[in-house]
Formats: sequence, structure tokens, C-alpha cells
Amino acid sequence: MAMRFTIFLLLASLCHFHATEVPSPPEFIKQHHTGTILFQENLENPTPVLLECEAQGEPVPSYRWIKDGKPFDWQVLDNRISQQPGRGSLHITSLSKSDVGIYQCFAENKLGVATSNTIALQEIESDTIKKQASPSSGNEVAPHFTVEPESVNAAEDDTVEFHCEAAGVPEPHIEWIHNGKPLEEAPPNPRRKINPNSIVIEKVNKDDIGNYGCKASNNLGHVYKDVYVNVLALPPEITEAPRDVEAANAKDINISCKVFGVPKPKVKWTHDGKELTGDRYKILENEDLHISNIQLQDGGEYTCHADNKYGTASASITLTVKD
Ligand SMILES: *[C@@H]1O[C@H](CO)[C@@H](O)[C@H](O)[C@H]1NC(C)=O
Repeated sequence: MAMRFTIFLLLASLCHFHATEVPSPPEFIKQHHTGTILFQENLENPTPVLLECEAQGEPVPSYRWIKDGKPFDWQVLDNRISQQPGRGSLHITSLSKSDVGIYQCFAENKLGVATSNTIALQEIESDTIKKQASPSSGNEVAPHFTVEPESVNAAEDDTVEFHCEAAGVPEPHIEWIHNGKPLEEAPPNPRRKINPNSIVIEKVNKDDIGNYGCKASNNLGHVYKDVYVNVLALPPEITEAPRDVEAANAKDINISCKVFGVPKPKVKWTHDGKELTGDRYKILENEDLHISNIQLQDGGEYTCHADNKYGTASASITLTVKD
């Protein structure tokens, strides 16, 4: 009997292990201090923000918001706004003019109500953001990119570089993500240098193909952008084949051969299988072959050869010289 009672007590104490099960009124564990968040509406480069509101209490508190003193029914607005599950915090994915206002959050259960500090969202013009956002002004500014990383298509052995800079108050912290994980957890790569605002990868190869994300955050929220490194290895391809030409004696002609490949293929021309020599032949900037002062013996087959380290391609035409 004594034994059973001990087990009962043990189970009962395990069940009540969570302190929150003791009835208590809501008490904030996360909320903003009173202040203003300045932002610029920018559709191309949206500014997200997290308005924090999280309380503990038993029973688990429910949350509601007011905006400018009226109940704020964010659900009926649009899908830019969501509430973190089980918490009151509101996440706005891209701040817009319609969000300007003063916000306050309430956490309540049957034992009481906790009322949060007020937080103002205020829109400002781009040229004033720097002035207003000086740390001494006391205003807070959600992070926004000043330099965004861009995807790169590189050839093998190229050096690639991503830049990422963000402004905000407090100053945003920059984190890099590689293939969905913090860069620190990525396999080591001695050719990759990580600087606070950039990543440099030297002599890229196919193993470097992947995704890099830059996340700039401060206590108001974060901005995120991800980009790709594509390492291309493309053998040459003739994209526009040369066409047969007829030329009159003593005239100049161009023979066109358009090629593509990565790295950029080198183009060479031959006449009846022999390399062209002499100053009557020129390769123009657009890779066309230019022959000046055509002679009768210039007639025959011309071939353009394109090559890079992944392969070769060629195409031929006939030049007919008329008197
Ligand atoms: C050949 O191409 C060059 C450069 O595009 C051009 O200036 C020149 O007129 C062309 N010559 C002929 C004969 O088409």
C-alpha cells in the first residue's frame, strides 16, 4: 500500500513537473520596448518585420492586437501578415504604407491580462532614412539590404564573389547559409574565404555548384536573399553556321561563324585544311573572318574551328571567286 502511494506521488509530481501548470496570469517573456520602427515601402526588396508578443501563464494565454486604438483584425488584411503559432508575435513579410500605425498586444487568460508596450510603424522617405536612423535618434530600423548578392554563372577556374550588406538600427548581423544550412556546418572548402560582407570562391569547380543565402537580422526582423553558383562546362557549339559566299576578284569579304561555349571557345579558320597566314586575313572582334583583296586562288573550302577544354566544333563553307 505504502509502495503504491509512493508511485502515485512520483507520477503526480512528474505530471506537474511543468511550472506553467500552476495557474498564473499572463506575463510577457518577449515584447518590444516602446519605440518607433522606421521603414521604406519597397516592393522589389521588401522589408519584413517581427512584432514580438509572447507571454507565459496558465491557462495558456490568448492574444489580440490593437492598431491605433482599434481591434486589429490582421486576418482580413492580406497574406503579408501572419501570427506565430502558439504566440502572439506578428510577422509582416513586407512592410507597406497600410501598416503605418501604433500597435499594442494583449495576452489574456481567465486570471488576467498583460498589456504590451506600444510600438509605432512609421514610413519615411529614402533620403531621410539615414538621418533618422542614427543610433542616437533612438529610432529603430528594420534591416534592409544595401548590397544584395547576385547569382553567378562561372566557368571552371573562375573566381566568384558574393557581396551582402545591410543597414538597420540596431546594426544588422549578417549570417551566411549554404545549401540550407549555416555556412559553419558546410563541408570545409579551402578555396572559399568568408569575409563579414562577402564570400570569395577561388578556382571554382563543379563541387561548388550550390546555393548561398545571406541573412541580415536585428531584433526587429530579418531580410534574406539566396543566390546560386552555377559552374558551367559547355563544349563549343556553332550557333550560327557560316554560309557559302561568292565574291568578285579584288573585293573584301567577311565570313561569319557564331560560336558559344564556357569557357569562351577560341576560333580558328582553315582554307582547304591549311591554317591561314598572311596579312590579307584578319579575325574581327565579332570573330568573323575578314579577307581583303580576294584572289582567284582564295576559292575553296573554309572551316571555322571552335575549341575549349571541353571539346571542339567546326563548320565549313565554300568560297567561289568570280572574275
Ligand atoms: C566586315 O565586318 C566589319 C565589322 O563588322 C565591317 O566594318 C565591314 O564593313 C564588313 N565588310 C564587308 C565586306 O561586309
